[in-house]
Amino acid sequence: MAFNETKWVWMNGRTIRWQDATLHVSAHSLHYGSGVFEGIRCYETADGPAIFRLGAHLERFYASAAAYGTRIPYSVEQLEEAICETIRRNEFRSCYIRPICYHGSESLSVHPGKCPVEVVILTWPWATYLGAEGLEAGVRLTVSSWRKFLSQMMPTTAKACGQYVNSVLAVREAVERGYDEALLLDSNGAIAEGSGENLFIIRDGQLITNDEQSSILLGVTRDAVIQLARDLGYRVEIGTLYLDDLLSADEAFLTGTAAEVTPIREVDGAMIGTGARGPITHQIQDAFFAATSGRDARYKDWLHFVSERPVETVVA
Ligand SMILES: Cc1ncc(COP(=O)(O)O)c(C=O)c1O
Repeated sequence: MAFNETKWVWMNGRTIRWQDATLHVSAHSLHYGSGVFEGIRCYETADGPAIFRLGAHLERFYASAAAYGTRIPYSVEQLEEAICETIRRNEFRSCYIRPICYHGSESLSVHPGKCPVEVVILTWPWATYLGAEGLEAGVRLTVSSWRKFLSQMMPTTAKACGQYVNSVLAVREAVERGYDEALLLDSNGAIAEGSGENLFIIRDGQLITNDEQSSILLGVTRDAVIQLARDLGYRVEIGTLYLDDLLSADEAFLTGTAAEVTPIREVDGAMIGTGARGPITHQIQDAFFAATSGRDARYKDWLHFVSERPVETVVA
């Protein structure tokens, strides 16, 4: 974690110093988890820092807030500019971006209506989430004893603060068991997702991933990988996944903004495929990083450049 490299934070319309970006302990969202957030990455490219799929992330940010009846008091354009400004002020070439919209301090009634709606944008340098060696050698998962909550209990497609206590329980258990990450099943016993990632398996040269029927957060990375894989000529099937499908898969990987495309080499002691990063996973990783770095011009639309204009047009 590199919080100490962050100097500036955007808070409620102003860019302020990291140490001044504080809120009161009576804030509603601290007590009841009534906030929503996003996790976004900015990558270094030949044209300067570029934010990967900013539009899709902000769309989900507003949708998550709407699912909780919260209106974000800024326009998409204002937040786009605020995010770019925060990255510029911190002079980051690449970073992780965490916009959060929460209810501040006014009342501790469960209904948050009296509490102000506040928005903060944090940025910090964040290397690979599941470890650099995980990206190459693959990670080890354990099936959690905690189930992913049903969509009738909470809006599973929303990225809301309180919903992450489910992930916190699962990942703590996984680490206690000596694993890298937890895999949660849904209430029917089908696979849902990791504590912070979606899942793909590869069988007979075909990719399979699940959808919101299995209580997953519909990942922006998942969506990008579906498109990249199809563009590479692979069939991608969307359907329910069971543990047997994963255990008998030729290859499997996790996707997420933090985890990017991370191979899975083991689940509870059982080797997946050859127990190493598989060739199709490797190819998809390469295609993903070619897109995020701007090296593959076909996916330039997925990049939002932090400078007002790409460098070459500024120079011209
Ligand atoms: C529970 C959960 N599922 C899936 C994902 C992957 O989503 P994305 O690819 O949009 O980061 C995340 C990460 O945000 C997550 O927290």
